[in-house]
Amino acid sequence: MKAVVYDQYGGPEVLRITDVEKPIPGDGDILVKINAASINSADVRLMRADPFLARLNNGLTKPKKRILGLDIAGTVEAVGPGVTLHAVSDAVFGDTFQDDLGGFAEYVCVNEKSVAKMPSDLSFEQAAAIPLAGITALQAVRDAAVIQPGQAVLIQGAGGGVGTYVVQIAKAYGATVTAVCGPNSRELVASLGADRILDYTVQDFTREEARYDVIFGINGYHSLPEYRNSLKPAGIYVMVGGKNKQIFDALLFGRFRFMFGRKRVVMLTVDDSKRQQDLTELCALLAADQLKPVIDRTFPIDDAVNAFRYVEEGHVRGKVILTIATA
Ligand SMILES: NC(=O)c1ccc[n+]([C@@H]2O[C@H](COP(=O)([O-])OP(=O)(O)OC[C@H]3O[C@@H](n4cnc5c(N)ncnc54)[C@H](OP(=O)(O)O)[C@@H]3O)[C@@H](O)[C@H]2O)c1
Repeated sequence: MKAVVYDQYGGPEVLRITDVEKPIPGDGDILVKINAASINSADVRLMRADPFLARLNNGLTKPKKRILGLDIAGTVEAVGPGVTLHAVSDAVFGDTFQDDLGGFAEYVCVNEKSVAKMPSDLSFEQAAAIPLAGITALQAVRDAAVIQPGQAVLIQGAGGGVGTYVVQIAKAYGATVTAVCGPNSRELVASLGADRILDYTVQDFTREEARYDVIFGINGYHSLPEYRNSLKPAGIYVMVGGKNKQIFDALLFGRFRFMFGRKRVVMLTVDDSKRQQDLTELCALLAADQLKPVIDRTFPIDDAVNAFRYVEEGHVRGKVILTIATA
């Protein structure tokens, strides 16, 4: 089967399209024929081993898991022993987070619990745009921030893969949303329901009077004291991602900086045990027209190098999709 393989860490030039052996499903696994996959920041971080600590899980000198790709949508081609949730020909979507990755290929084997049935009104491209970014956003809004109707929320990095879902889910949970994005994402973020939009190239929310119940740090960078100052007295800063400096600041100094007073910092780590429940909740939001996947660009799998280059430019609006098989 065709796959995007990498044998050394580095930029998109380390990716190559080659033939590898088609996997065989083991106990509890299904073999999925992949129609579409989406690129996540995690794929880029794994490809580059950035931060360096990423090597602890995937090989110190070269990658053990040679095929990247977390988010997939496709059809069940075969089922292994003991599979009860899915049958051959089911259209499914999900992620390979708990498996061995491998979504940038014609086929992948995943545990049957890694995927859910695909809503019939979604294309494979739309479905592949949802899993990791959608689940991250849902857990950030529902579990980390526990958003209540009427709360004032600021989302820094609103235009990207995770951010476009956080905007929509925060609105669905009844928040008033201030979205921070660049000039090219402005129109998109407005169309997703943001109440107020700040262009980070000319406006700095940390210098404004406004205070927020919740700030989601998804992309870009501000210091912890700046986030803290922009919160209301019992506000929560949810650190989802962003520049390495943002992540390390929160990990190293987060608890210390938020030690006094009622303000809190929560460092989001996706809880993978909720995947089935989360995909179901995301499907319900889709069905209620409160959520839609945003696709910026679609590349054929043979053009994976350019797809990664585009993602690495850092201004993706929503998600970038790799198309693998036609339906
Ligand atoms: N905690 C977790 O479990 C978890 C799970 C998934 C992802 N993450 C992390 O979440 C982060 C976001 O992932 P993603 O997939 O959404 O990334 P992405 O799609 O690549 O994000 C690109 C977006 O970042 C925006 N951006 C760039 N510089 C910005 C700035 N200075 N201020 C505000 N926005 C800026 C860009 O908006 P403009 O074009 O408008 O500039 C673009 O829309 C990553 O760090 C990822 O590692 C964490």
